[in-house]
Parts: sequence; C-alpha cells; structure tokens
Amino acid sequence: MSNHQATLYTGRGAELYHAVVQSDSSELREIIHSLRGKDPRILELAAGSGRITLALLPFARSITAVDNSAELLSILQDELARPDRRRTASKVETVLADILALELDEIFDCVVLGTTSFCLFDADQRRSLLTDIRRWLAPGGELLLSLRTPELGGSNFYLHEVSPQLAIEETFDAVGRTFTSTLVERSGDGQRIAEYSVTTHLLTEGELRDELGAAGLAVTGAVDVGPRNRLGAIGNYKLFRAHAPARDTIGGTANV
Ligand SMILES: C[S@@+](CC[C@H](N)C(=O)[O-])C[C@H]1O[C@@H](n2cnc3c(N)ncnc32)[C@H](O)[C@@H]1O
Repeated sequence: MSNHQATLYTGRGAELYHAVVQSDSSELREIIHSLRGKDPRILELAAGSGRITLALLPFARSITAVDNSAELLSILQDELARPDRRRTASKVETVLADILALELDEIFDCVVLGTTSFCLFDADQRRSLLTDIRRWLAPGGELLLSLRTPELGGSNFYLHEVSPQLAIEETFDAVGRTFTSTLVERSGDGQRIAEYSVTTHLLTEGELRDELGAAGLAVTGAVDVGPRNRLGAIGNYKLFRAHAPARDTIGGTANV
C-alpha cells in the first residue's frame, strides 16, 4: 500500500469520502421537515463537502457552514460557485474552523450537527460543544443532531462493499466503545492501495439525552432516519430535536 493510514477527511481521503456520501440522502427529509416554513438562520457544524448544506439551501435564510477540512469545504465552495446555484449560494458562509474552538458572535434559529458527527468527540469535548451550541441558539432555537444507533450483535467487524474499488470496514471496540471506520481503496485487480480511517465513539440514545439535558437543551423529538441510500446497512441513524429554553436564563437573568 502506498499510503498506510490517512484520515478520511483530508487529501485523497476527503475526495473519496465525498464520492461516497454525495448521493446519500439520509436525514435530509427529516431535517427539511423540521425547518420548512421557518426561514431559519442555520449554523451547520461539521458541514464537510455540503451534503446537508446544499439540500437545506432552499429552506434557509442563511447558512453558516463550519468544518475544519479545507479539502471538503473547498468541494462545497466549488458546488456553490456553479452557475445554477448563483441565486441561492450567497446565503451560505463557509467557515474553516475547529468547531471545538469556534468564536461566533451571532445567534441562530437552528444548529444542525448531522451525519452522527457528534460521536467524533469524547465526553469532555461533547460537553463543551453542547454548551457552545446552547449559547449560539436563539431563545427557543432548535438543535438537530443525528446519532448512529447500531444494532451490536456478536460480530465486531462489519464490511460494506461500495464498489469493486472501494469498501468500508468497521471494527467495534467494545471496551473502548469506539468504532473505527476505514475506507479501503483497491486497484483494478483488487489489491489494497490505501486506507483512510476515522474513529467515532459509541453513544447510546439514553446517554445523548442525558448530555443534551445537562446542557439545558430539552429533547422534543427523535425519529429514525436511515439508512435510505446510505450504502445498505451502514447503521441506523436517529435525528434528535432539542430546544433551547424560550426565555434564556443563562446567568440567572431572563434574556428574551
Ligand atoms: C461524518 S463527516 C460529515 C460531513 C457532512 N456533514 C456530510 O454529511 O457529508 C464529519 C465531518 O466533521 C468534520 N470535523 C471533524 N472534526 C472537526 C472539528 N473539530 N471541527 C470542525 N469539523 C470537524 C470533518 O472534516 C467532516 O467533514
């Protein structure tokens, strides 16, 4: 193999990641259902190459799309520059930044954190991120967050064949409660050329509800969202809706 373990979101990994996810419509219908008719100012965290961003464009007043992968954001920027998107592309601001160290002065009607990206972070990082999200939400604002809810059976290895040239291998570490997902690139004769990996944490639905509650976000719904065309059985997702209080009482003072 020419490239042993590269990350999934940079360089060639980002290119292949985009190729694999761009036609994936998981979560989109449910997110749009939640936003339709509200003309919201949206903050999309971990926006990547814009799988969700582009689908939300017709329903948003504005979208601030944040990601720390320059390669994935540049794919989104190229998409936004297409002539047929000229009318709506100005609604989107792309921000290259670490969402765990993000400075934002604005507030938003909706924060979207899709594709189970919340599980990229450990417990301390998630706590800090939810505190920030609560701060970025307008009073009564909505967080839409998806969580992978896999059925963990006897096996701790899963293989998803994407095409003769690409496969996704996943290993579950029951002790560390992590998944490592590896996109395997193969040559025409089936040899492994390279691997691009990402590790995510397993978080149960109950744990997520507790973390949202601890951040002062009230869960108001949870719906099953997949897989739709997410490469067969890559795992079911649930989309959680949680709301900031209508009257914000951070610091003890009502701030409507
Ligand atoms: C599972 S992908 C989801 C991308 C996109 N939402 C989609 O559906 O294709 C996770 C994304 O999180 C981004 N990411 C990971 N850690 C990040 C961080 N600390 N700050 C900003 N983005 C991050 C990656 O670059 C990647 O684009």
